[in-house]
Amino acid sequence: MPASSLRPTGAPELSLLERSESLDEAAAALRERGWWSGDDALDPLLVQALLGSLARLQSAEALYRAGIGRENEFRVEKTIRGDRIHWLSRNDPVQARFLDQMEALRQRLNRALFLGLFEFEAHFAHYPPHAFYRRHVDSFRGAANRVLSIVAYLNSDWRPGDGGELVLYAETGEEVLARIEPNGGRLAIFLSEEIPHEVLPARRDRYSIAGWYRLNASIQGQIDPPR
Ligand code: OGA
Ligand code: MN
Repeated sequence: MPASSLRPTGAPELSLLERSESLDEAAAALRERGWWSGDDALDPLLVQALLGSLARLQSAEALYRAGIGRENEFRVEKTIRGDRIHWLSRNDPVQARFLDQMEALRQRLNRALFLGLFEFEAHFAHYPPHAFYRRHVDSFRGAANRVLSIVAYLNSDWRPGDGGELVLYAETGEEVLARIEPNGGRLAIFLSEEIPHEVLPARRDRYSIAGWYRLNASIQGQIDPPR
């Protein structure tokens, strides 16, 4: 009997976790080259539910302009990033389900990679047409905060030519490691400190969740500042 028929209806699992060969492949790719992307990593029902949740937040005007920097260095900079975000919370059952699956993934990745991933934070992101996020890294070396970045894509019918690719670069220089189209159900994972990346402008509204696995916030006596 396939594992999927054992699960209660309405409780989709992270498809990636049900295919151990995909998970092994992801762990090996992260170890060897620092990034991985896989299709159908998220259950389509969950992708739909997350998109619904994001649409409700959007109509409630609960998305706000993303900024750059932390705390007193925080500022909104449209020339750097144009997305609108909302941090996920466990109060919403759909968001909680996604966070549960990321927790399961955290445990599996820790077992495979010994990264000591400790906690996870994530936000919805909406890039309106023509919005972009210029080349950046998600964490700075030695800051001991974000270790692995994940992006889950929510648009179900992305077509070639729609733009909006996530472009991953080699740590130094202009070499392109990957151009990842934001297809619904796809998950991209990469090392937060090592992989510079950017989001290209799209012709359409682009919906995703960006998340980060972090180390213990007070590791080595250094208190990691809030997001
Ligand atoms: C980010 C980011 C990539 C994407 O939010 O930091 O790089 O594909 N997102 O949305
Ligand atoms: Mn990023």
